Amino acid sequence: MNAHTLMEGAADAPFYLPQGDECEIFATAARNDLPLLLKGPTGCGKTRFVSHMAATLGRPLYTVACHDDLSAADLIGRYLLKGGETVWVDGPLTRAVREGAICYLDEVVEARKDVTVVLHPLTDDRRILPIDRTGEELEAAEGFMLVASYNPGYQNILKTLKPSTRQRFLAVEFDFPVQEHEIAVVARESGLDPERVKPLVRLADKLRDLKGQDLEEGVSTRLVIYAATLIKQGMPVERAITAAMIEPLTDDADVKRGLLDLVTAIFG
Ligand SMILES: Nc1ncnc2c1ncn2[C@@H]1O[C@H](COP(=O)(O)OP(=O)(O)OP(=O)(O)O)[C@@H](O)[C@H]1O
Ligand SMILES: [Mg+2]
Repeated sequence: MNAHTLMEGAADAPFYLPQGDECEIFATAARNDLPLLLKGPTGCGKTRFVSHMAATLGRPLYTVACHDDLSAADLIGRYLLKGGETVWVDGPLTRAVREGAICYLDEVVEARKDVTVVLHPLTDDRRILPIDRTGEELEAAEGFMLVASYNPGYQNILKTLKPSTRQRFLAVEFDFPVQEHEIAVVARESGLDPERVKPLVRLADKLRDLKGQDLEEGVSTRLVIYAATLIKQGMPVERAITAAMIEPLTDDADVKRGLLDLVTAIFG
């Protein structure tokens, strides 16, 4: 099976243009009960990729946006008071484990440490989810798959995955698509003519070269789509670029001026 046949696997799957062999890796991991970790900068297509693959494989998808307050109970479930009665309510992870769905933990490094403890028995060959509060020990249903993502660019020493956690996952690195692919993606998502998208993508590439110097992070494909969408709606190109590709990147007036010089160099 190649990426092309996979992309056409489900007619109503969200559009995703593969960058490499990530669709095959995902499909193979899914068939073999292996968890998958997606690494890459913001707005490069990780979330879209997961929705596309879930639809293509015909598996339900539970997405959890992890944050620094997210606890194991948020994932597993808790007792809630309903009409005077205490009832157990499954969290998204438990639901996915029971139903054989894909559970996608977005920005997993943000989650509290007790979350990783829950993930360990699920991500080795035991594939079990112990629920302490109810005394249950759930075996993952066929089709259950754990997918997690994070952005290594923001990593700090306090927020990183322990080797014992990361070495339970297959991992794929994502980056921004090559220019030709990014033009196709932006044109498709915004409806703007590819010829008019081209210079926006060239600008994005130049802005990405500044990562680590003037900018913390290169401009995302998401922002290029925003710029193209504004232009498609009739906004003047320079205004659209400022609002979508310059202002979101920095607050520093000097850096902004430097970025605008790049815009002038490309758009004249
Ligand atoms: N290869 C691709 N095929 C189709 N669309 C893409 C692709 N790459 C990026 N996109 C587009 O870029 C937008 C941003 O991608 P997405 O939300 O998946 O990024 P992300 O990597 O999950 O970012 P974050 O880390 O901020 O959550 C998507 O809405 C989609 O329109
Ligand atoms: Mg995302």
